[in-house]
Amino acid sequence: MQDVSVLPLWRCLERRGGPDLYVTEYFRVHRDSHPGKKILRSINEIGGHKPVIAQMIGNEPEHLVRSAILIQEQSNCSGIDVNLGCPAPKVCGKAAGGALLKNHDLIREIACSLRPVVSGSLTLKTRVGFELEEEFDELLRLFSELPIDGLAIHGRTVREKYQSNVHTACIARAVATLPFPVTANGSIVSVDTAQAMLSATRADGLMIGRGGIRNPWLFAQIRDSLAGAQWFPPTFRDVADYLEELLEEVDTEGDFEADSQLVNRMKKFANYIAAGLFEGALTGQLRRATSREEFLRITRDLLDSDEPFPLEPVEDGKLFCGGNALLVS
Ligand SMILES: Cc1cc2nc3c(=O)[nH]c(=O)nc-3n(C[C@H](O)[C@H](O)[C@H](O)COP(=O)(O)O)c2cc1C
Repeated sequence: MQDVSVLPLWRCLERRGGPDLYVTEYFRVHRDSHPGKKILRSINEIGGHKPVIAQMIGNEPEHLVRSAILIQEQSNCSGIDVNLGCPAPKVCGKAAGGALLKNHDLIREIACSLRPVVSGSLTLKTRVGFELEEEFDELLRLFSELPIDGLAIHGRTVREKYQSNVHTACIARAVATLPFPVTANGSIVSVDTAQAMLSATRADGLMIGRGGIRNPWLFAQIRDSLAGAQWFPPTFRDVADYLEELLEEVDTEGDFEADSQLVNRMKKFANYIAAGLFEGALTGQLRRATSREEFLRITRDLLDSDEPFPLEPVEDGKLFCGGNALLVS
């Protein structure tokens, strides 16, 4: 995840079990691009003990090939992934990310060009279509013919961005028909939503974005629940500790000239962590914070209790995470 799935967060996740595998924020690939040092560093730090997949975004096969070679030379990544889902107008405007779903021939050319140069796994991260979920069967036919090792599916169209039901039926069809593992993604924020996604799709794996920022224990909770074991239910105080730890990690990694820059950076994370808490009071107060001291005081004031942290981010009776409504059909 651009700008949030970064080393400071990964370190905090690892101390709480962490995911089985990490996928980087995307490396932007174009004619003059070189792999970003910060992302390479995150791969090399975590890649020593957990598999890390390096994700690229771009639409020029020769430069994607060049970059994949450089990334593999400069990091211990376990594989290369290509983004076919980013809905950002700036990215789609350059016919990359989600816009590639409109160009099946180019997707094929990209996958076939990368195969010979990727020594680890070669995967794609897709959505179920650009405009409509009805596009998915054509995409499925394409994906089934590609020389790839896996596919992650965010169960929404590019048009739907992050605010719609997740089309689990599409993911289930992919699991049933594709000759490689399929990972399901979209609004998994708790043990219950994880189990709901697994039973609706029979997916080989789950990919978690915003829910993992909000609740860094989520990965271990899901693993433990699938193993039939007790899982750790965090309290508000545990979340305050996590926020404080994350702030220290972000500060260590960033070269912030002013406190306000550090606090603004933290707000990107706090947006997900505070979602739905105290009827928006925590989000509201943190948004106005301008210093580290103020940020930590607000966090402590509101979260200094042994009350259980809500398992799901709910606002007005709806799952809600980071300004985006989360609906699971
Ligand atoms: C701030 C933000 C940045 C994202 N950046 C990326 C990215 O770099 N690569 C990618 O494949 N998906 C990216 N995504 C999409 C997520 O990986 C994921 O597919 C989406 O958020 C739905 O899953 P979730 O409900 O678990 O968050 C991003 C999403 C958000 C909210």
